[in-house]
Amino acid sequence: MSTPSPSLPGGTWTLGDLTVTRFGYGAMQLAGPGVMGPPADREGALAVLREAVALGITHIDTSDAYGPHVTNELIREALHPYPESLHIVTKVGATRDEQGGWPTARRPEDLRRQVHDNLESLRLDVLDLVDLRLGNAEGPRPGSLAEAFETLVELQQQGLIRHLGISNATEEQVAEAQSIAPIVCVQNMYNLAHRHDDKLIDRLATDGVAYVPFFPLGGFTPLQSSALSAVAARLEATQMSVALAWLLHRSPNILLIPGTSSTAHLRQNIAGAGRSLSHEDLTELDDVSR
Ligand SMILES: NC(=O)c1ccc[n+]([C@@H]2O[C@H](COP(=O)([O-])OP(=O)(O)OC[C@H]3O[C@@H](n4cnc5c(N)ncnc54)[C@H](OP(=O)(O)O)[C@@H]3O)[C@@H](O)[C@H]2O)c1
Repeated sequence: MSTPSPSLPGGTWTLGDLTVTRFGYGAMQLAGPGVMGPPADREGALAVLREAVALGITHIDTSDAYGPHVTNELIREALHPYPESLHIVTKVGATRDEQGGWPTARRPEDLRRQVHDNLESLRLDVLDLVDLRLGNAEGPRPGSLAEAFETLVELQQQGLIRHLGISNATEEQVAEAQSIAPIVCVQNMYNLAHRHDDKLIDRLATDGVAYVPFFPLGGFTPLQSSALSAVAARLEATQMSVALAWLLHRSPNILLIPGTSSTAHLRQNIAGAGRSLSHEDLTELDDVSR
């Protein structure tokens, strides 16, 4: 499934029938502080999105809950009409309250509304990939996803969604979703220091399903570790790019969606993520989570 790409580290991956670069872009932090409201630097945010596509990225991760509506509207303003090669992945299952919280919204009527809101804010007739976001801000929570996931399957059958995925999910929920309909990706929290999903990643790789780590750089709390600093210093690389290179080495089904509001960081991350890591580097980095 993974084929070399001449331009971006990691080559490409196929999500159902959609080919995407394994190096993608996560748009969440383009919204204002706490992922609420507009960005401080609107032109800068638009420039990052345009730069991502100009550099060859064909996978952008978003949600109408970011802002809310803010990142989708930035994506539309920066990139519509979208290049045919670009695939925008969105998530449903949570909304926002006035305090910036992320209340669950997974009743069938909530999900139908969110799918239509995403179609409208992104100005699309069909959403390429929709993840059902489970759990809450503290992480995955056990419980059946059947009613919510079946609602998305209905919307898929109506032609509004091409492919489905799930996010913030337990292993049992991944298996339950797969028993209902095919999924092409799982998007969960995972990085050098947070490796709860190691077994799940390997199982999904066998199934040909992508694993998309959110917070690949630590999210709101940037990754910090002496082993990461030591390897980055030895390679004369930034810690962020080494953390991304490690993810690309970890498994061929891992797709990256690092966020940044800076075109300089975007370029740096792309340039560094393609470096090869020696057995010694990988062993030291594997120890970060132990
Ligand atoms: N499914 C879910 O529940 C869920 C939850 C959270 C996130 N997500 C998705 O995952 C994506 C990635 O998560 P994220 O953006 O929150 O976290 P992240 O990718 O782990 O980290 C982003 C942070 O890293 C900084 N950064 C990036 N490159 C850097 C560099 N070269 N040097 C220094 N700092 C750098 C960014 O700051 P600068 O802006 O200064 O570069 C930003 O603060 C999101 O965009 C979103 O699409 C999904």
